[in-house]
Amino acid sequence: MNTTKDLYSEIAEFLENEREVYGPFSLAETEEIVVAEPSASAAKPARDTSKTVVEEENKEYQSMTTLEKIEACSTLDELRELCEKADELRTDLEGTNLVFGVGNPQADLMLIGEAPGADEDRQGEPFVGKAGQLLNKILAAVDFDREDVYIANILKHRPPGNRNPDPDERSRSLPYLFRQIDIIQPKIILCLGLISGNTLLNREDLLRELRGGFHPFRGADLTVTYHPAALLRNPQWKRPTWEDVQKVRKRYVELGCKP
Ligand code: URA
Ligand code: URA
Repeated sequence: MNTTKDLYSEIAEFLENEREVYGPFSLAETEEIVVAEPSASAAKPARDTSKTVVEEENKEYQSMTTLEKIEACSTLDELRELCEKADELRTDLEGTNLVFGVGNPQADLMLIGEAPGADEDRQGEPFVGKAGQLLNKILAAVDFDREDVYIANILKHRPPGNRNPDPDERSRSLPYLFRQIDIIQPKIILCLGLISGNTLLNREDLLRELRGGFHPFRGADLTVTYHPAALLRNPQWKRPTWEDVQKVRKRYVELGCKP
């Protein structure tokens, strides 16, 4: 009884003999002879098969909606790659860089700001300017390193003149941010500023109505505090911010989050 291997050796031997009689075959001709033999289908060159599969997968992918492509991302790298190509994440400021997010992909605490500024746009990383330096100090006050947490923004591109993100920009960005949150699966989300809090909770509340408590959001406990940039202009809000992050640290311990 012939196994595939035996069959393969037989074909090889046959070709070897033919070659002796008729001179050398080109590689393409050799492959064609093997493929055309139905009983030798197991010996089909892998290159041809995978090419067709890749083409079909590409066609299928192109026909997916943006939302389906977002949902299909199972890692932050895949999502980042999709964001790189997403024109709907851009603002009307031209030539900006993607500011995807930074930190521990397995973080139990996720921080969400508003939108990148000039420094963030230049470096492609959220909260690296003056507000970012203050944020690092706020985190350190409750014993978190920047590397322990994950930091992102509502918008992934800088708006012109640092204006507030408009409702349309926010709604175009949210499906990407929601996917990012669902991949990271933080136990606590701290919104930095009223815009971030109201956008995620889909409210139009005042900061004092959102602060202090935890709101259930995509499997996490979400809370809101002052934006670090607001603290630079209004240092009297530092004390209540400190109280808010103390509450975050307490909840972090209560939920048994990673040390
Ligand atoms: N302000 C924000 O809201 N996000 C940043 O990344 C920087 C400043
Ligand atoms: N008002 C805001 O809109 N944001 C803050 O962070 C503080 C006050």
